Order: sequence, then C-alpha cells, then structure tokens
Amino acid sequence: MTTSTPRQVTAPGKSLLRFITCGSVDDGKSTLLGRLLYDAGMVPDDQLAALARDSRRQHAEAGDTDTLDFSLLTDGLDAERQQGITIDVAYRYFHTARRSFIVADCPGHEQYTRNMATGASNAELAVVLVDARKGLLPQTRRHTYICGLLGIRQVVLAVNKMDLVDFDQATYDAIAADYVSLAASLGIDHVHCLPVVAPTGENVGSRSTRMPWYDGACLLELLETIDAAAFRAEDFRMPVQWVNRPDQSFRGYAGTISGGSVTCGDEIVVQPGVHRARVERIIGPAGDLQRAQSGEAVTLCLSREVDASRGDVIADALRPAPVADQFTCHLLWLGDAALLPNRTYLLKIGTRTVNARVMSIKHKVDVNSQAKLAARHLELNEVGYCTVGLDDEIAFEPYATNHTLGGFILIDRHSHATVACGMLDFALGRSANVHWQHVDIDKSVRGASKGQQPLCLWFTGLSGAGKSTIANLVERKLHALGYHTYLLDGDNVRHGINKDLGFTPEDRVENIRRIAEVAHLMVDAGLIVLVSAISPYRSERRSARELFAEGEFMEVFVDAPLAVCEGRDPKGLYRKARAGEIRNFTGIDSPYERPESPDVHLLTEGRRAEEMAEQLGEWLMATQGSQQSD
Ligand code: ADX
Repeated sequence: MTTSTPRQVTAPGKSLLRFITCGSVDDGKSTLLGRLLYDAGMVPDDQLAALARDSRRQHAEAGDTDTLDFSLLTDGLDAERQQGITIDVAYRYFHTARRSFIVADCPGHEQYTRNMATGASNAELAVVLVDARKGLLPQTRRHTYICGLLGIRQVVLAVNKMDLVDFDQATYDAIAADYVSLAASLGIDHVHCLPVVAPTGENVGSRSTRMPWYDGACLLELLETIDAAAFRAEDFRMPVQWVNRPDQSFRGYAGTISGGSVTCGDEIVVQPGVHRARVERIIGPAGDLQRAQSGEAVTLCLSREVDASRGDVIADALRPAPVADQFTCHLLWLGDAALLPNRTYLLKIGTRTVNARVMSIKHKVDVNSQAKLAARHLELNEVGYCTVGLDDEIAFEPYATNHTLGGFILIDRHSHATVACGMLDFALGRSANVHWQHVDIDKSVRGASKGQQPLCLWFTGLSGAGKSTIANLVERKLHALGYHTYLLDGDNVRHGINKDLGFTPEDRVENIRRIAEVAHLMVDAGLIVLVSAISPYRSERRSARELFAEGEFMEVFVDAPLAVCEGRDPKGLYRKARAGEIRNFTGIDSPYERPESPDVHLLTEGRRAEEMAEQLGEWLMATQGSQQSD
C-alpha cells in the first residue's frame, strides 16, 4: 500500500495546487513526473547521485550510461504492481518559489479506476498525457471521463514524445484539437495543451527551442500560474464538525468553510432546520476575524442559542442550501462485493452520516465509451446513475457546485469498508413534496384496544429448517389465547406483493425490505406479526429490525444443519438445486449468513416442532404479560 494522506504543505503565503497525472507508463508518465520534480529543483543531490547510478545500471546493456532515467524517481507504483502489492495512490509534494503542489499519481488501468477516482477527488486539475505517435487512446477518454465525473474542470494536455514525430506541428495540432473536443463532450471546458519531450525536459521546466511554433508556457509555468480557485463554490456553507462548549458562557460551532465567505453580522440559517441567527464572532487559529472564506477552519459564535450539532450545515440565510432526502447521483462502486439496490448503507456527506439506500440504478455507464447500459447491480469500478434515499433530510449542494456538500461515500454497515463514492446531482421533487401526515390513533392505542403489545417475531433460517411450521404452531397458540396475529410467510408473499421478485441477491434484498415494511405496518396496526422468510442476509435483517422500536422486533433463528434440511427436502427443491435445475438456491449456490446474536436461537435437530413452538409461545406470553403489567 503506498497511500499517504496529503498533508498541508503550503509554504506561508504560497497558494496550493492539487493535481493528478493521468496516463500510463508507455505514455511516459513516470518520466514526465520525475523530470518535473527535477526541473523544479526538488531532487536533492544525494538522490540525484543515486539516480545517476541507477540509470547507468539500468541502461548499461543499451550502452547508454550518461542519460538520467527520470522514471526511476517516480516509478514506485510500477515496482509494486510487478510485485503484486496493492496499489493505491501515491501523493508527492513539491514547491517552487511561486506555489506548492500535491500531485496524485495513480495507476491508469481500468481495474484501478477506483484509485484514480480517489486521486481525482482531491484534485483541482489533471495533467493528461498522450504519446504524440499514438494520439488519443481509449484510456485517454476513460481518464478524462473519470476526471470530469469527479469534478475536475481544468486539464493540461501534455503531448509527449514530440521528438519521435520530428517536432511536427501538424501532428500536435491535430491531437490538441481532438482532445479539446473530447474534453468538451465530457464537461471539461478549460484545456491547456502543450507539446513536450519528457526525458530531455522540452517544455517541462523551461521552454523548448526545438518547437518554435509553440509560444505558450512550459508545464511548470502553467502549473504555477493556473487559477486553482477559479471554480470554488460561492454561497456560504459550513458543515458543523464540532460544538465547542467549554462552559455556560461560550458556545461556538467549529468547522471548515466549504463554500463562499462569512462576515461578522451576516444572517445564517442552521440546516436542514430553519433556525436563523447572526454571526457574532468568527474565531480563526490566530484569533478573531472580521471575515473568513472557503477552506478556512473557524469557530462561529451566534447571536442566539440555536440547536445545531455535528452534521448540520450553517448556511447563508438569504441563499440557503436545498434540503431533501432523495436524490439522483453518480456512483462509482469501490467495493469488492457488488452494490445491491435497496440494501441499507451508511452515507457520509460533509460531517453528516445517515442511513441510505440506492433505490434504483437508472443505468450504468461504460467508462470507456460512456455508453449507457441497463444494470441491476454495480460491480467494482463500475459507474452508475442512481437514485438514493436517506432516512433523514440533509442540506446538500449539487457536486458540480460544492464538492463537500455534494460528494459522499457509502460505507458497508457490517464490514465498515468504504464501498462507493458518489456525486449528488439534484433532489427528487417527490421528496420535497411529500410530508409525514400526523394521525391521532397510534400504535399503542391500537394495541391497547386489542389487549396486547404489538410485536414482530422474525423467523430466519434455511429452506426446510422448520420456520413456517413453528411459526404456524405459535400463531395457533396465540390465536387460541385471544391474541390478534398475522403470519407473513415468504412463500405466500411471493404469490402477491412480491410476485415480481426472484432469488437473485438484489431480488432477495427487495423481498425482505418489502416484507419488513409490511410487517412494520401490521405492527403499527397493533398486531403481533410472525414473519417466516429465509432472509439470508444480515444486512437486511438488521435493516428490518431498525424499522421497529426497541423491544418490538425479535429475531428467531431456526437453526438446522444444511444436511438435515436437505434430507427433509419437503418441496423437492434441494434435489432440483443439486441437479442444477434451480439456481441461486440458499445453502447450495447462494449464501446464508447466520445470525450472530439472535434474540432466540432454536437448535432444531432432534427436537419436535410442537415442543419448540410451545416454549416460544410461553416465552412470548411472559414478555406480553411483563410489558402489560409495566
Ligand atoms: S428469501 O431468501 O428471499 O428470504 P423467501 O423466504 O421469500 O426467500 O422464499 C423462500 C422460499 O422460496 C423457499 O421456502 C422455497 O420454497 C422457495 N424457493 C424457490 N427457489 C428458491 C431459491 N433459489 N432459494 C431459496 N428458496 C427458494
């Protein structure tokens, strides 16, 4: 792993440019980067001596012992790749008299798209490299697309190896023109093209005399002078990172301004709420400020007490951020396991973390051709255009205008791995126009009129484990005692509301989501609901539980070994699955994730269903009794 986190390396008074280099070894990327560091005077003498030694050794066979091989300075990623070590992103830091730089160097192959996205997500500019002999390649298009997707709006196109085309202007002009139109089609309007020869440094650190027809700046000059801040967000936004409240006399909201500027006296609003206040003090690292702007970390003190906490956004009251809980967005999938629509993930945006699910994949995008393709899930390195729904409303911005409030990551709730990065587009109108309607008769009233505590008893286990048999017996017992119940059985539900669903992972996720929603409504109606469904995934069982109040959801694991279930095979389905007649069969070619801490664990082997149902019924009535006497 060669990741290093970018540190703040700006020398006082110098601006910082973060850029990414795109291209492959064949295009001369390592050499260009090495040469750039050399020309910027960033290669210390001892390293230079080592470079001369390494270059001699490397090129002795070819009889070339004098030329410095600059690729040796920066080919860390290649060395790792050859060794089969995980490659992430290498960040390099350098500076000139005019500016500090952080360059993200990532591998360019398609299987490393996620690495490139990581590098691009922090960059203001991309240096795209092409070989003058080859012109634009499919990878040039892919790299430019990923840069555009991640919000880079400026590109420097370096047409390399000009010496191998005899410094021919027509060749260069044709490539430059092709690239400008390609970039424009991918949403990048600011392109600076230049012809270079990386090893000898033509137009790298100084202007070349070999191409008098080019009268523009050299690469280093361009990087030093390009306006990196040209595309910053304009409206004042600050996600609250921390509420600083050392004692009763002081309350400050700390965070990094992610857009616009703020001046003492400005009126702000705390979002997603509507509370307004004025900014009384702005405190920076060196004391009180009159004004602060995007990128600065400050603490704000407000004119009155408002309820703001971590994750809220303090915004300009006159131009507040949109607030919503459903969006369209681009997603780049980074996870090894595929994205499953309707599964709940954690979404982290700004300083806010909220439960989210991808409601639909409108299409996926071929990263090489940008063709829109139909998709039911997204695999590693795939890009999709999706709708996302959140459990709570958030203040946000389209990614195109504010990367902090429009860029997010999705986190797997079980493994805590980051599985996607996303770029918000706009809110779905329906989310702003649908509100929760208050009703006077609620769950407790409905339950009380039935003389019971509403509850969901969720039976999970392999097909043939005995879930439905036991649930049926428990329901009979409860019914006989006068309780109001309903048994939602997986097989039966699949004849109606879930008739459109099969047994692929994405369909099972949706199957369980719908069953859980229906069970939730039934509990809200005051019933004791028994659910019997394989429900093979932990993630969806957890999401089901989260719909309910504390103590209202009981997971019952009906645990029978696969061999026992297969031996019983009441519907003959295991036999068919073994014969390959049905696919995705749980336990055979589709996983069952055992509950880690079920509320009730029924080890069924050698036990009678009646006995287990009796026991479960007794236990249930005891909980009902204890809750009723509370
Ligand atoms: S779940 O995995 O989505 O929770 P559910 O409980 O609704 O499954 O449905 C499972 C029932 O469908 C099984 O009891 C079995 O009768 C039937 N079935 C048909 N095909 C499959 C399959 N491929 N895998 C599991 N069950 C299947």
